Amino acid sequence: MSGMQNGTTNGCKAVERKLNQFGDFEDVTNMSVNDWDYRWSLGQTKFHMPKVHPLLDEGHEVIGNEFVDSACRQFFEEHNIPYTSTPLTGIEGVLYQATDGTPIKLYRCDCFDLSSKLCGQFDCMWDRGGFVALPVKDRTRYARVMADLMKKDGRYLLDCFLVDNSVFGGTFNL
Ligand SMILES: C[S@@+](CC[C@H](N)C(=O)[O-])C[C@H]1O[C@@H](n2cnc3c(N)ncnc32)[C@H](O)[C@@H]1O
Repeated sequence: MSGMQNGTTNGCKAVERKLNQFGDFEDVTNMSVNDWDYRWSLGQTKFHMPKVHPLLDEGHEVIGNEFVDSACRQFFEEHNIPYTSTPLTGIEGVLYQATDGTPIKLYRCDCFDLSSKLCGQFDCMWDRGGFVALPVKDRTRYARVMADLMKKDGRYLLDCFLVDNSVFGGTFNL
């Protein structure tokens, strides 16, 4: 949802404010992981897809990353996949793993703490809504982390969008 709010109060023109993607007026141009945690606590997750994971359906092993703990647990619970949780070694976070043979696990940690040393290297990486959720200043740092995680002949799909941020209040345009 996006929109503009105009108006006058006591003859003064009100400052134009853009609705953000969550339907309110908070500044979402520099969201921290704690801000995302807050949005998850409000259930503001309209980016959700109902499927477990398209790549899993294709027979691939899937390894995901998400900072918010409740989001990871919700994922397994919504899809009735039993799981274990193990604290990660060396960084703050948890590894969630399916225990029914579904080849999926989630690293519950800040993506900037991911490394090939921690989770190996990947044939293929798909970012949907991750890059655009990070503060713009962290993009180069993010690219370095992704390069470290990808095999030399790996493929990377960045699923993102071009929007006019003078109209839409977030997340961040490319
Ligand atoms: C727009 S949502 C997209 C979620 C998911 N990739 C999808 O396609 O449904 C962005 C997600 O990035 C997570 N996030 C934001 N900053 C992060 C970080 N530094 N490390 C890991 N996850 C982060 C948020 O908690 C949020 O769930």
